[in-house]
Order: sequence, then C-alpha cells, then structure tokens
Amino acid sequence: MEPKLVILTLFLLVCSTVKADGYIRPPPRETLHFPWSPKPSSHPQQVHISLAGDKHMRVSWVTDDKSAPSIVHYGTSPGRYSLMNQGESTSYSYIFYSSGRIHHTVIGPLEPNTVYYYQCGGQGPEFQFKTPPAEFPITFAVAGDLGQTGWTKSTLDHIDQCRYDMHLLPGDLSYADYMQWRWDTFGELVQPLASARPWMVTQGNHERESIPIFKDGFVSYNSRWKMPYEESGSNSNLYYSFEVAGAHVIMLGSYADHDEYSDQYHWLQADLAKVDRKKTPWLLVLFHVPWYNSNEAHQGEGDSMMETMEPLLYAANVDIVLAGHVHAYERSERVNKGNSDPCGAVHITIGDGGNREGLAHKFKEPQPRWSVFREASFGHGELKIVNSTHAYWSWHRNDDDEPVRSDQVWITSLVSSGCIAEKSNGLRKFLMEP
Ligand SMILES: *[C@@H]1O[C@H](CO)[C@@H](O)[C@H](O)[C@H]1NC(C)=O
Repeated sequence: MEPKLVILTLFLLVCSTVKADGYIRPPPRETLHFPWSPKPSSHPQQVHISLAGDKHMRVSWVTDDKSAPSIVHYGTSPGRYSLMNQGESTSYSYIFYSSGRIHHTVIGPLEPNTVYYYQCGGQGPEFQFKTPPAEFPITFAVAGDLGQTGWTKSTLDHIDQCRYDMHLLPGDLSYADYMQWRWDTFGELVQPLASARPWMVTQGNHERESIPIFKDGFVSYNSRWKMPYEESGSNSNLYYSFEVAGAHVIMLGSYADHDEYSDQYHWLQADLAKVDRKKTPWLLVLFHVPWYNSNEAHQGEGDSMMETMEPLLYAANVDIVLAGHVHAYERSERVNKGNSDPCGAVHITIGDGGNREGLAHKFKEPQPRWSVFREASFGHGELKIVNSTHAYWSWHRNDDDEPVRSDQVWITSLVSSGCIAEKSNGLRKFLMEP
C-alpha cells in the first residue's frame, strides 16, 4: 500500500473508533417509584387524549369510583365551560386485579390550533390541550418502547421542551407485563403530556399480556388506550388511521393477523384507496416490529409482515415508516425489497424511549448500504412537516439528561417526485384485488 493510503486508512480507522466510542452509553435506569397520593375516588386519573375522527378528540381517564359520570365539560377560556359531552365507560379484571372505571368521551367539533380547557366527570382539576393545526406546518414527537424508568422521564422531559402538535408511539407503552397496576402508574406518568397533546399509539409485544386459554391478548391496552379505529372503518383497535394537517397516518398492528387474507390486510387496502394525495400529500405508517433493522436484536421478526405488506405500501407511495421494538435508533435511505429505491419509504426505528430492558448495543457488521445512521442510545424523534414537499426529521439523544440533536435530515415527499405517476397502475392492481 502507498504510504498516503496507509495514513488515510489509519485516519479513517481512528475517526470511526472515536465515533463509536466517543460517547459513553449510560446503563439502564431503575423503574420509577410512584408515591401513593390518595385522591377523592371520583377525581380523574391518567388523563390522556387522542384524535377521534375529523375535528374531534377523545378524552380518556380513570376513576376509582365506579359510578362516576363520563362527562367532559370544555371551552376555550379557563374555568368557563360552555360545552359538554357525555361518553362511555368500561372496566376489566385481570386475575386478582380489577381496574377502575375507564372513561372515553369524544368531544367536538373543535377548532384547529386552539387551546381548550376541560374538566373530566365534573370533578377535580382543570386540564388543557391544544388541537393540531389544519394545515402545514405540523410537528410530531415520536418515541416508542417507553416504559417507566428514569430514562423514560428524561425522554418525556425532552419532548415536553419541544414545540409539537401530536405524539406518535410505535408500540410498547407501559411495560406492565401482566402487573396491571403498572398500567395505572404509566397513565399517571404520561398524564402531563398526554392530556395536553393527542397521543396516537399502536401496540407492541408488551401490550399483549395474553395467557393461553385464560386471557385474550390486549385486554388492558384496548380498554385504556382506545384509538379511532371505528372512525377509520377498522374493526380492531390494533390498526386504524387518521388524518391531520396534510398527513394521512396509518397505524398497523404487528401483533394482529397480517397475511393477504386477513382483516387487517383488507382494511389496509380499503384505507389506502381512500387516500387523496392532494389533500394529504404525506403518507406515514407506524407499527412496532421494524422491517429494516441492522441490529442483532429482533433480527428477522418483521419479515412475514414485510413480505405481505411492503408491496402494498410501496405501490401506495408511503413516505415514512416508523417502528419501535429494537431499543436503539436507526434511519434508512428510501428502500424497497431490501435495497435502496428512490420511490420506497424511509424507515426509522425509534424504540429507544427508555424502558427498563436497556439498549440493544450490537449492530450487525458491515452496516448495510441502506442504513444511513444507527446508534444505541435513548432519545426521541421530531418530524416537522413544513409543506407538501419538505419535512425535517431529527433524532435527539438523551445525552446524560440533555437532549442533543444527533441525527437530522430533510426528507422530500414522494408527491414531489416522479414516483407516484410511475406507480399508479401498480397501485390500482393492488387496491382492486379482493
Ligand atoms: C417547502 O419548504 C422548503 C423548506 O423550507 C422550501 O425550500 C420550499 O420552497 C417549500 N416549498 C413550497 C412549495 O413552499
């Protein structure tokens, strides 16, 4: 080798080592302790909100009092509620645990980009939320695999510091793992954020909690985190879609059947057929188990879903896919069928919200060509869709307790490329299939 080349090689080697080792990754943090703070039994706990169809919001909360009413009073000035709506409530039991009353009340029609003040069940403190804008720009905060540890707290604090309109969560919320009271502590932990901005979530493996013969899966998740599946023509809380500003967002279920004969597949075909790119130029999809993953953790787990659903998402020109499950961060180029493709989706794994299992440190070598950036650190993402053609994605690592922007990229929409016209016949074929 020429001396110059040797020096260059050595230089690159040193750089790559520094990049890998310059940041000392912190260990997992312990599960938080939640002091028991008694409240009157009719007072709301675990308040969170989610979009419920056009211009409507679902307010969800829990009361210990089983006969507390499911009413929400609301209005646009503090303490003065000119509007009111009545909702529904449910409860569930799980082995020796029996839940409080879980209330879900849809309110609206609401004005976009407006602060509303509200009170749940006519009791307890006033909450407030801001509705998302009707037009670009819109900012999504994204973090999956949250759990309830010191790192979760750090991630939530950082999200709280950013200006955002909605939280997207690609699965694994509480890490209750059969211990039902942990759903309650998780609800309390996220309430300050989840009562102020809509939290749109999909399920992960930690939500399943099934016990063969004895308990079906997702009982607690479905009871507590009701999403707008009815409003989007789905018959399962495990997959649904919604529209906000100029984005059509599809939440899929990695743990619902997804073969070509499944209800989910048929629902997805029907939902994609409804997308109007003039109204919603951006098409986003979330699910838990990543399809593009170069971490050693959970290798190949997404393959069967990818095999059936990627052709459909590709034909439909999905812009961005967000997944969790792997406790690390990774961003791909636009990809399809395992390779870079300018008309495919950008895949982002962001399962690093801070749960007690810790980080997935081992990445496969060499880094695949489609993988642009990967790092095992806790953190959160922000997706700011600026207009119909441009979106800015950034990933913020929890560097000790400071959010540090460590990866960022401008993403241009497929609407602004030639891809859509090119693929229109392919899409028609997919959507016409029974
Ligand atoms: C969209 O935003 C980008 C980035 O700010 C800008 O360069 C571009 O001109 C905008 N496009 C339109 C159509 O406004």
